[in-house]
Amino acid sequence: MPARRTSVPRSRLAVVAALLIGIPLALARPVPPAEEGEVDAESAFGEIARVLRHPRCLNCHPSDDRPTVGDDARRHDMNVQRGDDGHGRVGQRCDTCHRDENQPLARIPGAPHWHLAPRSMGWVGLDDHDLAEALKDRTKNGGRSLDDLREHMASDPLVLWGWNPGPGRKAVPIPHSRFVQLLDTWIDGGAPSPTPGVTSSF
Ligand code: HEC
Ligand code: HEC
Repeated sequence: MPARRTSVPRSRLAVVAALLIGIPLALARPVPPAEEGEVDAESAFGEIARVLRHPRCLNCHPSDDRPTVGDDARRHDMNVQRGDDGHGRVGQRCDTCHRDENQPLARIPGAPHWHLAPRSMGWVGLDDHDLAEALKDRTKNGGRSLDDLREHMASDPLVLWGWNPGPGRKAVPIPHSRFVQLLDTWIDGGAPSPTPGVTSSF
């Protein structure tokens, strides 16, 4: 009898312990980023979205009129704003400070044609589904086909800067070649928009 009395609680304990340990582990485990190899087109977009949402990209793709700075997306000094053409207001033109290359001593980031992405290319606040829709929308993306988008992300100097952001700034953490490979997977798979409600980030 005593053996029976202890065996029941013990098995219950085991269940409780399994739940206590198992559930938080399952909840806490982030979806692992695909390092390499094959992924389907929708998962590929999840990886692409992580890159687009990286601060090196998002700081220039705000949904309002101000660039942001750093990994915490703080407001740009001097209340810099886009102005009429994305190159800044009079007296605060981006190229007054930002040059074609990083200036390590002054710690000013730089790359050719440094300016703010148009409002229609503002991605802040979009989930993966809406981000994919915005990217594919030619009325928002600068009239680009999917191939043009791939080309832009494979070679535009502002995009490439994300992998060479100068001292004191973290680069996008997956290789650029991998990013382009994921774009190919997404586009070859019909460029699907993921199910709404998911927001992938690093
Ligand atoms: C210095 C600001 C700046 C940075 C940094 C920047 N972009 Fe952009 N981006 C722009 C501007 C400006 C345009 C519009 C250029 C044009 O249409 O020719 C643009 C356009 C785009 C477009 C095409 C339009 C669209 O919305 O589909 C994509 C895609 C893009 N950027 C991706 C990125 C990615 C990925 C990164 C980071 C790795 C990045 N950008 C970093 C300024 C920036
Ligand atoms: C008066 C000089 C000046 C002007 C004008 C200026 N910037 Fe900057 N910008 C800086 C400096 C300095 C930094 C570095 C700040 C830091 O790291 O704390 C910076 C950082 C940034 C960053 C942050 C990059 C990152 O990921 O951390 C972005 C984006 C940016 N500027 C965009 C712009 C845009 C777009 C314009 C024009 C609309 C502009 N800036 C105009 C001086 C300027």
